[in-house]
Amino acid sequence: MKISTDRSRLDRFPFPFSDERYRYSTNVEPAGRLVDIDDAYHRDLGERAEILAKDPSRHVVLPHMRPAAWDCMLTLMRQLASAYPADFELTGVGADHWHWRNRLLGQAQDFIYADESSLPMEPLAYIAGQVQEDIVLLDQRDQLYADAGVVTFAADWSFGFDVGMSFLEIHGPVPRIHEDRVITRAHEFLKRLQPHQPYRRTNWTLTVGHRLDVSTELYPEWGPDRETVQTVDDETFGRLVHLRVEVQHLVRLPDSGAVMFLIRTHLLPLDELATVEDWRIRTAKVLAELPEDMADYKGIAKYRHRAATWLDAASRAA
Ligand code: HEM
Repeated sequence: MKISTDRSRLDRFPFPFSDERYRYSTNVEPAGRLVDIDDAYHRDLGERAEILAKDPSRHVVLPHMRPAAWDCMLTLMRQLASAYPADFELTGVGADHWHWRNRLLGQAQDFIYADESSLPMEPLAYIAGQVQEDIVLLDQRDQLYADAGVVTFAADWSFGFDVGMSFLEIHGPVPRIHEDRVITRAHEFLKRLQPHQPYRRTNWTLTVGHRLDVSTELYPEWGPDRETVQTVDDETFGRLVHLRVEVQHLVRLPDSGAVMFLIRTHLLPLDELATVEDWRIRTAKVLAELPEDMADYKGIAKYRHRAATWLDAASRAA
């Protein structure tokens, strides 16, 4: 079996399993850097732009969320400028006047905070064109409502369908988390989230092919891969099946009070994952042990046992 390695991708990969058994939990921890730029920057942003051009429903800002969109844009610009000062620069030039520079994209922009005519497009779309993360903004009323966002890389859900729904409604289809009170606890936690104290969590699934956009909208394109992947030879299986990990950040925006939810998607093929012995063993155990209802919900029920067997065999073949 041929094992291909890309060391830098492996070093950066946010391996999600701390144990050989996986169950849902409110797995949040204090966050460091909110945004993560890597060598897929131009490719990911190009893909996002194409998706948005074809399907505008991936970008929604309900009218009452306009202040939150500005708050989100400035927060992310500050983050980019402090995390990657050689590539991004934000300078205040008088009350509400700013100068933004993105050297990776060769862009420079003067703008006036909260004045939409000072930007080439709506601020959430503008900043979503400069970070690899998907973005959802939640308004806090009696509950949290997902009232704005740019989501182009959804894992088997539809932002256009979910927009305007409450946090609890959105999580309606997820098995176990209601009985286990995971989601009501997460909701209480999010309602108390404080500015300048961001948190992070991870979520994971498997994806066939290096495909970021596995949204419900495109199901006819990628859904059949779950069938066909069962029939490919072992070498192709290890190359095609990816562990998909979302690093999610939860941030209270300081001016608008909205909750910003960032989703950064990482994909690693099994044949690379298997080169790290601990990851190979733990992932095989998690996949083999995962209860059927969770595997079903994740859409991996048909091939997760083969993935586990493949990973088990990878040590002997390497
Ligand atoms: C601490 C916070 C959170 C927790 C503990 C949590 C938990 C979960 C879990 C366990 C799943 C199932 C994942 C899987 O099996 O692959 C899920 C799915 C999902 N979550 Fe969250 N989540 C959180 C925050 C959020 C936020 C802020 C949003 C923003 C809208 C969100 C949107 C979603 C969506 C859209 C799905 C897919 C639902 C579907 O299948 O239709 N989550 N979440």
